[in-house]
Amino acid sequence: MRGLPASWYLDPDRAPLEDSTIFAPSWQFVCHVSDLPASGTAVRYDCGGRSGVVLRTKAGGLQGFRNACRHRGARLVEGDAHTGLAFCIDGRLRCPYHGWTYDEAGALVSIPAGQHFDEFDADAHSLHPLHVAEWHGLVFAAFQTPRQAVEQVLDAVAGTWPDLTSMRRVIEPRTTHCAADWKLACEHTLDIAHVDIARPALKPRLFAPLVFELSDGDALRATAAVATGALGDTWSSRMCRQLLRDRQSSPARAEYVYVWPNLLLQLAPDGLYILQVLPGATGHSTLRELRYAATDPGREMRLLRYTHQRVRRQAFAADARLLARVQQGMGVLGAEETGPIATGEVGLRWFVEHCRARLPAPATSTRPMRGRNRRGTTPSAGA
Ligand code: FES
Repeated sequence: MRGLPASWYLDPDRAPLEDSTIFAPSWQFVCHVSDLPASGTAVRYDCGGRSGVVLRTKAGGLQGFRNACRHRGARLVEGDAHTGLAFCIDGRLRCPYHGWTYDEAGALVSIPAGQHFDEFDADAHSLHPLHVAEWHGLVFAAFQTPRQAVEQVLDAVAGTWPDLTSMRRVIEPRTTHCAADWKLACEHTLDIAHVDIARPALKPRLFAPLVFELSDGDALRATAAVATGALGDTWSSRMCRQLLRDRQSSPARAEYVYVWPNLLLQLAPDGLYILQVLPGATGHSTLRELRYAATDPGREMRLLRYTHQRVRRQAFAADARLLARVQQGMGVLGAEETGPIATGEVGLRWFVEHCRARLPAPATSTRPMRGRNRRGTTPSAGA
């Protein structure tokens, strides 16, 4: 099997195709249920050019809408700049532009006095709903009908995972620019051949390289034991590995689930780590990192979480330079195909097969990559 053609990482005309065929009908992680603790709390969620808002209702359920007013299209909810969290008084969404107000079911319930329209039908101006689902305390949304229910996708690979509902956010969500196409960033999380080889900087590792199990579904799973040591080790990585072993009976390990197209979940002894790759302009993407854990005030657990996070940051920095190089190399290849993918790269082959199955054939012409010198960072699956 060969990799995707280089043009797939370079052609700006592919972004709308990927949005409509991959992202709109796929489940996208929004937040943890603890981020929506009470009636009226909401989370804004952006993916590519789309924006959605998920709202906790008075009855305790979840409702999702496209984040755009049905009058003149203004974005309804901004929320916190980093978390997207917001609060809607009385569970109502009031547009900041001309004051149209929607209830928690998305119905248009009031228009300020003085705004008159010809033959106006309020029922025809309800908010566009999203598909919203919860799995083990994680909230997902989709802009179009997904191929499968989220339970079907995740139970097949993570049916034995514990309920994560009692976890809480332990660090602020972080979004980071990545100077590479979203597919490259996703492939990098699944690629095992580069581990302990890649330059210019070796990265510290906590767990062994991920070897995913074969799957014909929309999710993969892997289990990785704590690494015995690694080139590029730091004080943090050595300390963290020791704490991981102390924390968990033998063998200390982490479980991973990769959800098509762009989500990696890592369930480690110190909590749940989430990495989501969001598409950006051609040759660019955004990495969204979130972390949830059980409430545990113990000193040892705090040190474990601290060192784990330090190692992840170091790994991100090392991967940043690497992925920027790969994206630049794609610009040199242009219309050529990339090379073969090793038979042992189960995750990478699965990802490429999914892309080929859902995207039309590549364009024959390529365009220059834009902004190739912008700084960015990248994901690290095994950290
Ligand atoms: S755009 Fe929302 S009320 Fe006018």
